[in-house]
Amino acid sequence: MEFSIKSGSPEKQRSACVVVGVFESRKLTLPAELLDKAAGGAIGDIVRRGDMDGKSGTTLLLHNVPGTLCDRVLLVGLGKEKDFREKEFGQAIRTAVKTLNETGAFDASIFLTELAVKKRDIAWRIRQTVIVARDATYRFEQFKSKKNEVRRPLRKLTLGVERRNELAQAEQALVQGLAIAEGMALAKDLGNLPPNVCNPTYLATRAQTLAAELGLHCEILERADMEKLGMNALLSVANGTHQPPKLIVLGYQGGRSNEKPLVLVGKGITFDSGGVSLKPAADMDEMKYDMCGAASVLGTLVAAALMKLPLNLKVLIPATENMPGGNATRPGDIVASLSGQTIEILNTDAEGRLILCDALSYAERFDPDTVIDVATLTGACVVALGSVASGLFANKDSLARDLLEAGDEAHDRAWHLPLWDDYQELLKSPFADMTNTGGRWAGPVTAACFLSRFAKKFDWAHLDIAGTAWKSGADKGATGRPVPLLAHYLLQRAGQLN
Ligand code: BES
Ligand code: MN
Ligand code: ZN
Repeated sequence: MEFSIKSGSPEKQRSACVVVGVFESRKLTLPAELLDKAAGGAIGDIVRRGDMDGKSGTTLLLHNVPGTLCDRVLLVGLGKEKDFREKEFGQAIRTAVKTLNETGAFDASIFLTELAVKKRDIAWRIRQTVIVARDATYRFEQFKSKKNEVRRPLRKLTLGVERRNELAQAEQALVQGLAIAEGMALAKDLGNLPPNVCNPTYLATRAQTLAAELGLHCEILERADMEKLGMNALLSVANGTHQPPKLIVLGYQGGRSNEKPLVLVGKGITFDSGGVSLKPAADMDEMKYDMCGAASVLGTLVAAALMKLPLNLKVLIPATENMPGGNATRPGDIVASLSGQTIEILNTDAEGRLILCDALSYAERFDPDTVIDVATLTGACVVALGSVASGLFANKDSLARDLLEAGDEAHDRAWHLPLWDDYQELLKSPFADMTNTGGRWAGPVTAACFLSRFAKKFDWAHLDIAGTAWKSGADKGATGRPVPLLAHYLLQRAGQLN
């Protein structure tokens, strides 16, 4: 879908469809009023007759509206005006785009972008519109022999801007929105791919192609390289599979050469069977999403490169399967991590932290300004926060605050959980420096405590995205989160958010 920005009045648009909003209790928004005036009150009449009451999620498609130059007018219900916030704005855009995709219109001019959203400016509304529109029309059908084709898909969306002096800001926001949407689409594609296709080798190859396309630096460490370095925690997870593990390293240099990089680390377990501590059979297919951390840091890198942000970034992806093959790690095994700290593996299903800890130690060599790891780390985080918020941990409060704020701005929210020392005790081992599981209580916290032991030399944050990276149920699939959060954090760091 193509996007463009335009300032102009709705009644003068020569498009296949003009989209305007109606609040609950039948109150027309300003663009709807302009259309109504041009149409000699025709829209107001229809609304008064009760065909559109403005309830959120409702739409009404009108043809041949007098006094206008467009073929159709789509009225979109916005709910109560006093409750109209970020979430309602997104819902209105989603409803509009989904409906447009089902009408005969190839192009549309949407004026919902002119609606006031508390605390949010035109740039926010444009970015959000593009992101939501791309999300609403996303499909993953490459493995269907019969594609579920949309009869007349929406090809072009023109976003209305009320004042001419907002145009420049809106154009920049459009570029940002497109970049973030692109990063999210990549993250969704990678997450949705079946685990027999998207294995560590596939991820490494994809990273190399992306690097070539975007002019990024890319290096793949093989098993032998990791053995030489002593990444035994990571390698212990790869013991039970025939798939060779990879450590993918990508670099984007948008900032000055002497500027310390921000390092993003993404968990890349391309399938998590649990290993010898085997998971139950029900829904085990969903463990193909256990590389969504990897997918989201790749997506964020793509977004940053497309936005040409003046920052230096490194992306690190430890990638392996977690399988119960004959050579698999046993509960009770002790391994020495790259940091030198030893780990007693009590549960082979707590594998994410084992690959991440070595990647975190590896990050030290980049002399990072900040390190953020992203991982579908614990089922307990899903229990705690559901699919609304990602779990956030940090060894520095200002970093946590910045990430929370970025999540709010992107409407891709996180919630700060504690990393207090009191929890570290749960990782005590009688035989090694620590165990890899903290027992039954505070699962997301003990997992983060484990990681914190490998992140002492830099500012570090951890996002547990087990609940937010994908949806179960009827419209099962990867969500592309937390690409929006991370991309907004980068925009904020680059000083490009207002
Ligand atoms: N990949 C899982 C976490 C997960 C579970 C994500 C369910 C999404 C949905 C992770 O590797 C795992 O298995 N964690 C264990 C840790 C436990 C053994 C300490 C868990 O959450 O049960
Ligand atoms: Mn696991
Ligand atoms: Zn896992």
